[in-house]
Amino acid sequence: MSPISGLNDVVAFVSERFPVDKLNFHSMIEKKEVPIHKMTWGYYTGGLALLFLFVQVVTGLFLLFYYQPTVSDANLSVEYITKYVSCGALIRNMHAWSSSLMIFFTVVHLLTTFAMKAFDRPREITWVAGVCLLLITYGFGFTGYLLPWNQIAVNATKVGLQSVELIGTYLPGAIADLPRILKETFQGEASVGQATLGRFYAMHVVLLPLALFAVLGIHLLQVQLHGMSQGIDRAAQKSEKFFPLFILRDLSVWGVAFLILFVLALCLPFDSFVSFPLLEPYNALGATPPGIKPEWYFYFIYYPLELLPFWLILLLSNLLVAGLFLTPWIFRDTSRTTLGFLALLGTLYLIIMTIFGHNIYEIFKGGG
Ligand code: HEM
Repeated sequence: MSPISGLNDVVAFVSERFPVDKLNFHSMIEKKEVPIHKMTWGYYTGGLALLFLFVQVVTGLFLLFYYQPTVSDANLSVEYITKYVSCGALIRNMHAWSSSLMIFFTVVHLLTTFAMKAFDRPREITWVAGVCLLLITYGFGFTGYLLPWNQIAVNATKVGLQSVELIGTYLPGAIADLPRILKETFQGEASVGQATLGRFYAMHVVLLPLALFAVLGIHLLQVQLHGMSQGIDRAAQKSEKFFPLFILRDLSVWGVAFLILFVLALCLPFDSFVSFPLLEPYNALGATPPGIKPEWYFYFIYYPLELLPFWLILLLSNLLVAGLFLTPWIFRDTSRTTLGFLALLGTLYLIIMTIFGHNIYEIFKGGG
């Protein structure tokens, strides 16, 4: 292949994914149709992830007014928000519940778009941007967990950072140092302390939001440029206008979802799922209390890590991330029926590990 024809291929690829002639209200909004079929509900999942992202931004901004990112004051400031700031407990609880709901719907959205083959040409960039959004969303979860500076937060972060360093032992030559350098960059000092809190805070409130909004911009622009994918193997018989019908339906779903979040945050403190000693302010001189574990959305990898050799999980998770990025090319010729079956298997695995991961761990640990 000559350099000129290679360049032509790149230009052709980019112009098919970014058709500038469609950059207008008529093509992107007025003309857009949403197919109606048995998987139409899947088209609402991205919108739900978006709703909970908005909630995160608004509640996060309110929390910023009072939160102090220092090891001496972080936990006290969170306690102050919960006990003394008007609506503080509600806002904090909404932020916590909505973070879980955002991750939940982002994963459901990934599984439904996979099953509907919505990554197929020309939507490869929509998909790849989506995978980046998923990683960024998990980054929010990991960095946000440390901010209340309590026992579970600091100790779980220590375990997470140690796992990053451990990766180095499985890498050859000079790149073996990379995970350690990465860990030190995140940690900022010899042990998890003020520098770590400052860096996690900067990532949580500046770096990750900037990255998220840039990638989300590309994601949503792609969605509007290419319209909804057909979703099922035979083109749907019926469709409805995106504007205003689908938008109105989407907003109704948002209304119901927001109401559920509001009632949940009002009635059920997110912290009530964590036993008391783990919520005590972190004490560097005290013993590590038992029961340290990450948030529920990490269980799918946390329990296998506890049970199986580290190198195996490392290999599988790298294959998974590479596979996710390459999905549009790996599954180019796969039917939606097969994709649906694979998505179902993935869903079952996630449900079993998230709900019964602890029991599975107990069974194997007890047996061993
Ligand atoms: C912060 C997380 C995300 C947000 C806010 C978001 C938002 C959206 C929205 C609003 C839509 C249009 C409605 C719909 O089809 O649901 C959409 C479409 C899409 N998203 Fe996402 N998304 C996110 C993450 C992801 C992830 C993790 C993937 C997969 C790896 C993904 C892949 C797609 C694809 C392929 C489409 C096109 C659907 C079609 O044409 O039928 N998105 N996204």
